[in-house]
Amino acid sequence: MTIDETPRGSGSGGESPTMGPSRTTARDLERYAGLFARRTHGMKSSAMRDLMAITARPDVISLAGGLPDTSTFPAEDLAAIMARVAAGASARALQYGPTEGMEELKSCIVQVMAAEGMDVGSDELLVTTGGQQVIDLVCKTLIDPGDVIVAEGPTYPGAVPTFSAYEAEVVQIEMDADGMRVDLLEETLDRLKREGRTPKFIYTVPTFQNPAGVTMSLDRRRRLVRLAAQRELLVLEDNPYGLLRFEGDPLPPLYALDRGEYVIYLGTFSKILSPGLRLGWTAAPRPVLEKLNLGKQGADLCSSTFGQHFVVEYFAQRNWADLLGRLRALYRRRRDAMLEALAEYFPAEAEWTRPAGGLFIWATLPAYIDTTDLLARALRDHVAFVPGRAAFLDGRGGASMRLNFSGARESELEEGVRRIGKVVNEQVRLYSTLTGTEPAGPRPRAESRAEGSESTGARIVPLRRRAGER
Ligand SMILES: Cc1ncc(COP(=O)(O)O)c(C=O)c1O
Repeated sequence: MTIDETPRGSGSGGESPTMGPSRTTARDLERYAGLFARRTHGMKSSAMRDLMAITARPDVISLAGGLPDTSTFPAEDLAAIMARVAAGASARALQYGPTEGMEELKSCIVQVMAAEGMDVGSDELLVTTGGQQVIDLVCKTLIDPGDVIVAEGPTYPGAVPTFSAYEAEVVQIEMDADGMRVDLLEETLDRLKREGRTPKFIYTVPTFQNPAGVTMSLDRRRRLVRLAAQRELLVLEDNPYGLLRFEGDPLPPLYALDRGEYVIYLGTFSKILSPGLRLGWTAAPRPVLEKLNLGKQGADLCSSTFGQHFVVEYFAQRNWADLLGRLRALYRRRRDAMLEALAEYFPAEAEWTRPAGGLFIWATLPAYIDTTDLLARALRDHVAFVPGRAAFLDGRGGASMRLNFSGARESELEEGVRRIGKVVNEQVRLYSTLTGTEPAGPRPRAESRAEGSESTGARIVPLRRRAGER
């Protein structure tokens, strides 16, 4: 029997609108096992993708996704812009386009990058299918099995399956309130050098990091860029959130400091316009850009031409900064609502970050709580978050969780945090009963508001490790 003829096992293979594809059975796996490439053995599903199936249920309050609030985009604007694309460019919008992207779209990208102080030529850009494709293409271009990538710990959970798929060895560097500890990075690079290994690239989300919410200080940015130049190392700067700053002064992206010598820049329209467009871009040193372009040709020929026309028309007809202004005001209110709820409902033993922008707060609980187990309990109370382990490749992060504040209304954020707080408090009480220790008691009011430096936006948790972890 060929695979095409293979009947689908009952309940397997089908798609349900809310739950996604059903799980493969052991028998299915056995049948296909010999056909899979070796790289699939290490492939991991993104925890967020798995969770999305559950969190799509209307009875679940999801603090798990990284969803922008797309209801901020007026429906009449969407209709008007689509109508203009249809009237003015329908044949071109429905046609294939150049792999590197439409010139008119690149002009929009030049504007967006200029808003963060970056000067880029349109011939230094490659339009991609979301920023996610940049991570994939960079790995496709640079990573052989066993090659080292250095990343932050925690790192963007969506990069974890990509790094695993390319069989990279990922070394994660601790962070604090000022982002990646560049001193520890330097030590790690020295250690790797002694072992005869050089990382293929350093992956960082320096501004309003996903998942930690922290921002790399200017000093560290300078030091990182200097380090990259001295050691001739590539840095992949992933910057979806830089323009979503609620307070404090903007900091220059690494790309602006390095002027495109060693920094590969990743940008996206997902968080400033819409993730449904699936449009992002990269700016990279030219030899790297050429390889990325070849990788993209093999992946999808070109990104959606229709979407590109939509963005071009949107930039021509509307002031894109207005939508950004609305998003900033909305997310700031939601961040504040989440911080207040955390202060109210989380136990005194918990700590969390106070981001000055972006979409995420990272909370760390006492080391005896495992947030992967906690999630199962929280789901029974119809609330979801991303367990911290999803942001590590080495099993760390077990006591932490990522909380998203952009995708739910303020009342839902409060209720969601209350429900999580309830299950956390149950664990704290259980632990104190079992060990005969006293819980720390309610958080004192004065301390409960997570105060911090407005400029970098953090009273930051030390992103702790569990006892015995590396
Ligand atoms: C840090 C980071 N990088 C990349 C992406 C991918 O975004 P997209 O493919 O929608 O541009 C995300 C999405 O949440 C992200 O948070």
